[in-house]
Amino acid sequence: MRIEVPREFERLGAVRIYGLQKIYELDAGAEAEMSDQNDAVVRSLPAEALYGVQREMAIVVPVKSERLKLIEGVLVGIPNSCLVIVVSNSPREPVDRFFLEQESIANFCRFTRKQVLIVHQRDPVIGAAFAAAGYPDLLDDTGCVRPGKAEGMMIGTLLARMMGKRTVGFVDSDNYFPGAVNEYIREYAAGFLINGGEHTLVRISWHSKPKIVEQSLYFAKWGRSSRHCNRALNRLLSHHTGFETDIVKTGNAGEHALTLDLAMSIRYAAGYAVEPYHFIDLLEQYGGVFPTEHGDMRRMVRICQIESRNPHLHADKGDDHVAAMIRGSLATIYHSRLCPPSLQEEIDSELRQGGYLQDGETLAPVRTYPSMEHLDLGKFAAGVQALVDRRVGAPPPMALLVP
Ligand code: GDP
Ligand code: CO
Repeated sequence: MRIEVPREFERLGAVRIYGLQKIYELDAGAEAEMSDQNDAVVRSLPAEALYGVQREMAIVVPVKSERLKLIEGVLVGIPNSCLVIVVSNSPREPVDRFFLEQESIANFCRFTRKQVLIVHQRDPVIGAAFAAAGYPDLLDDTGCVRPGKAEGMMIGTLLARMMGKRTVGFVDSDNYFPGAVNEYIREYAAGFLINGGEHTLVRISWHSKPKIVEQSLYFAKWGRSSRHCNRALNRLLSHHTGFETDIVKTGNAGEHALTLDLAMSIRYAAGYAVEPYHFIDLLEQYGGVFPTEHGDMRRMVRICQIESRNPHLHADKGDDHVAAMIRGSLATIYHSRLCPPSLQEEIDSELRQGGYLQDGETLAPVRTYPSMEHLDLGKFAAGVQALVDRRVGAPPPMALLVP
């Protein structure tokens, strides 16, 4: 792969946010063919090195009632070297969609000779494992993990940790283009390769999103939700650095990947607010504005933003969904300890102008979950071992690698 060297970065405390990096070539060939082609503008990453990173990567695919054809297309795009973990929250009645998903994935595994770990988010076994591991925060009063995308991602993260992976990446299951999925994962690998380190977050900004406008195809750059979210995050950063910036382009990037050390120490916001909250949490914990338990500024956190080349096309979930997403993402910023009153006022009036908040309503805070670093992994692993052994396409059951 050939990728632009970031031209700039913003720093707040130990957090570095790098400018958007363009891709010049998706595959730049093997190491032997690319002697000394790095310069100050472009980095060339050999294919073998990217594969090396992918071998240590788990890809978590959150699923809720997506069409089977779409899920299958996403799996087709994931490089064989990555461990795939599907976390589904699809209904089990009146039709057992989870059963259909398992069946379809088992079929995929037969052809690809691959193993896929698929679990149901509401499986009581997983709920009980969280309780046993001393992390009941994620459970509702039935003892199962709460519904929501973030909650599914957290299960996937823990499973990736148990399977001994070094990094975890997320791809949505409603993506129409397997080629786009494949590209995101190579870009995650590129981000880790360039930045190394224990604390790296890689986020993808889609190059474009095709839409039909006046009967022809139009490639839009920014969705409604990302526009609001990026602006507010940039305003927040500008307030604390004293310099206006527009560095943040991936405020609510669903396509992102983290080193597992970071994924285990970060806090999570519920549902769809999870992605912008990564920024907020990192800035709160490592930004140096408040004293925290992570006050060690030598532990640098790098946020790398990469612009993908494939257009992004996913299932359209409607206006209400977008509105909820805008409210959720702005709420994480609005209710942050870092948010100055002037920005709160701006967010409030923006939401009212857009019709996302009505008179008399206020912006409700989003539920957040504590870091999973104190969760007892051994107990969690013991609780879910049986589920992991039932991996679809699995030859002999593998022992879990609990560190
Ligand atoms: P958007 O693409 O960000 O607008 O939101 P989507 O509704 O497409 O959701 C993103 C991904 O999360 C999709 O793959 C969904 O199937 C999945 N998802 C949504 N809700 C849940 C949930 O409650 N649990 C799990 N595990 N996945 C979910
Ligand atoms: Co989607």
